[in-house]
Amino acid sequence: MSERLHIIPHDHKVKKADRAVLHGHRPAIVWFTGLSGSGKSTLASALEYRLHRAGLRTYILDGDNIRDGLNKGLTFSDADRQENIRRISEVARLFVDAGTIVLTAFISPFKKDREVARKLVGAGEFIEVFVDCPLEVCEQRDVKGLYKKARKGEITRFTGIDSPFEAPEDPEITIPTHLLTLEGAVDRLFSYISKELS
Ligand code: ADX
Repeated sequence: MSERLHIIPHDHKVKKADRAVLHGHRPAIVWFTGLSGSGKSTLASALEYRLHRAGLRTYILDGDNIRDGLNKGLTFSDADRQENIRRISEVARLFVDAGTIVLTAFISPFKKDREVARKLVGAGEFIEVFVDCPLEVCEQRDVKGLYKKARKGEITRFTGIDSPFEAPEDPEITIPTHLLTLEGAVDRLFSYISKELS
């Protein structure tokens, strides 16, 4: 018999809806997905600043930071990427329960894993943002110098080079960072989110 049967969640008195009333807005996951160097972290950071200044409760979960702590030890194999995203999704769900707008910035290359994340929260609580920047542009930017290493074979299983990226088919928002200014992109995101969550 599964040990799970002996786990009985406590029904706490303060609910997500109560926290939303206290905060003055609804919570959500703003899920940024895109290639390395596409601009996910930059966008998340600028959007968070804008939301924070408008008085909304926010938090950012960011790929490189989380992989240095909670997800230390996970590699870039397909299975570990899946586990990476599974843990992030569960943490993001907790932030939603806490009444927060949580912005996640991970490549999250697999459609299936992003769909799992979407289903963990309620309708309207998952806003998928496709940071749509062509590989050539990301590679030319090469902010961290990783594409160069991947082309030389010093990094294997690099997304876009020798590991796949499955683009979202029907994201809530698409941001082509190679065509928009940062300010223009943040304007677009801010107006969508503040309207949806107020
Ligand atoms: S994910 O695929 O599991 O979602 P995640 O967003 O956490 O990836 O981490 C991506 C970051 O790790 C990249 O921005 C890059 O800095 C670094 N990185 C190191 N090795 C790889 C690799 N093989 N593929 C992609 N990113 C890598």
